[in-house]
Amino acid sequence: MKKILITGANGFIGSFLVQEAVKNNYNVYAGIRKTSNLSAISNFQIEFLELNLADKNAIKTILKDIDTFDYVIHNAGTTKTCKKEEFDTVNFEYTRNLISALIETNKVPEKFIYMSSLAAFGPNGEKRKKTDKPKPISVYGESKLKSEEYIKSLKNFPFLIFRPTGVYGPGEKDYLVMYKNVKYGLETYVGTKKQKLSFLYVKDLARLIIKSLTTDITGKTYFVSDLKDYTADEFNKIVKEKLGRKTISLVFPEKLVKIMALISEKISCMFNGKAPTLNTDKYKELVQKSWLCDSSDLVKDFNFKPEYDLKKGIDETIEWYKNKKLL
Ligand SMILES: NC(=O)c1ccc[n+]([C@@H]2O[C@H](COP(=O)([O-])OP(=O)(O)OC[C@H]3O[C@@H](n4cnc5c(N)ncnc54)[C@H](OP(=O)(O)O)[C@@H]3O)[C@@H](O)[C@H]2O)c1
Repeated sequence: MKKILITGANGFIGSFLVQEAVKNNYNVYAGIRKTSNLSAISNFQIEFLELNLADKNAIKTILKDIDTFDYVIHNAGTTKTCKKEEFDTVNFEYTRNLISALIETNKVPEKFIYMSSLAAFGPNGEKRKKTDKPKPISVYGESKLKSEEYIKSLKNFPFLIFRPTGVYGPGEKDYLVMYKNVKYGLETYVGTKKQKLSFLYVKDLARLIIKSLTTDITGKTYFVSDLKDYTADEFNKIVKEKLGRKTISLVFPEKLVKIMALISEKISCMFNGKAPTLNTDKYKELVQKSWLCDSSDLVKDFNFKPEYDLKKGIDETIEWYKNKKLL
């Protein structure tokens, strides 16, 4: 049985990676932290590995006692935070700590997957090609790009980098805000209803990543979407139909969204200690006109065939939320 370490295993994407890895008969080590909520993965027959990614020596101590992992998927990361400098600490420094620990203990796996983001590359008015120069516009995106560049600078390190676009599915919390708006009769937009968007259902991402482990491809970077292009109003239309709701559309001017982001961040960080879905870093991404990407080389390299388009994915997701009485 091949051994695989998945960091951020208890999170939204991580839990689906665990599920897919278990389904494919891997011996799964879930990289978690003391404070992690394990409810999404507690039913799986897996090993739990408490990893303090902030401390390279602590990671080395743990690695020394374990046979080399065949594969490592480094999925842990922060997507929103009240302290902007944490993006660099968690997304870049922790990545470097984990990789340095693997190298220094002579435990480099057969393949190391880095879960980056389309945000590392940034948006464009047109469909971007991988050959364009990355231009992240958020601090989050900058931190992901910094990790990518670090990984690419390493000698003989067998990596693959995946840059998913917006990932949605059961258990995800940010798109849930949009479903709830529609439930209460509101379609909300930033700047335009025709913002160009790409999407990816979480199960398709998990299938792709687990499949990529056993190919002999390394050293490449991929955008990941369901291979289709959408607009913001198409997304709302699908949600509306699924929920059977009549709605009114509100197109918020960008400047107003900026103020709303500032206020919601201040309040949430002050009273809750957590960054809200609408925050000042996310605002920079929300106002972009296009988040399309070209994922066609996934088809060539991994025979990637998404099982879910947006309609099928949203249908399944909304059913899940309804069953959990969250919608
Ligand atoms: N969701 C998307 O649309 C999307 C798109 C592109 C890329 N990504 C990337 O995919 C990865 C997973 O994202 P997600 O959407 O599944 O987010 P999530 O549900 O918030 O999961 C994040 C995971 O990372 C762990 N983590 C966060 N901060 C950490 C820290 N300081 N130290 C150690 N572990 C930490 C979390 O552990 P705790 O539960 O203990 O906090 C959790 O397991 C991230 O790297 C993200 O950048 C996500």
